[in-house]
Amino acid sequence: MDDYLNIALPKGRLGENVYSLFASCGYECAGVMDDSRRLVFENADKKIRYFWVKPWDVGVYVERGAADIGVAGKDTIIETAPDVYEISDLRLGKCRMASAAPEGFTDDGQAVLRVATKYPNIARRYYSSLGREIDIVKLSGSIEIAPLLGLTDVIVDIVETGRTLRENGLRVTDVISEISARLIVNRASYRFRGERIRELAKSLSEKIPESD
Ligand code: PRP
Repeated sequence: MDDYLNIALPKGRLGENVYSLFASCGYECAGVMDDSRRLVFENADKKIRYFWVKPWDVGVYVERGAADIGVAGKDTIIETAPDVYEISDLRLGKCRMASAAPEGFTDDGQAVLRVATKYPNIARRYYSSLGREIDIVKLSGSIEIAPLLGLTDVIVDIVETGRTLRENGLRVTDVISEISARLIVNRASYRFRGERIRELAKSLSEKIPESD
């Protein structure tokens, strides 16, 4: 193990915003935002190393210690429950986990409710809390199309602006939880590099606006 702080960033727009936040706190690293296929970047002076990984995989890298820290959406954290510390809410990538149904649909509670989702654990837990029997159809994306095609009755998915729902004739039926990007930390790293990690988390929190 070298003395670099290894940071897993979620590829995509959220990750770019997260990196900008880190850079604004003095944790910049040349090349991270370049248009290239490289995935690993180091700043030798600051002893930091960034990796771009798939958003759903951040928890795996951090849990297993390949990254000391990472930024993951609360949606993936709830769904995959990695064994890590969640130490702060970066208040970026805000959205909601919600159930949604076609306009005019009412659940009469009779037949088993068919639910399309990328989040089977979240959906199962939510409907189980309501005592509702469901049949989960696990999809990888474009969830909103499932009720339109009669594949399912309803969906459980992320809603940000609500535009995808609206443009597909769906409406939110319940908000299951508020979602945003969280800073997660490997348990051993927190023990051995805790001071450095807490200092980073403090700088980040000072830059994050209190509310929208
Ligand atoms: C996410 C989510 C919704 C959409 C919500 O999809 O699954 O489909 O964004 O955003 P909105 O409320 O602002 O319309 P994503 O773009 O990740 O693509 P996906 O369909 O592949 O999941």
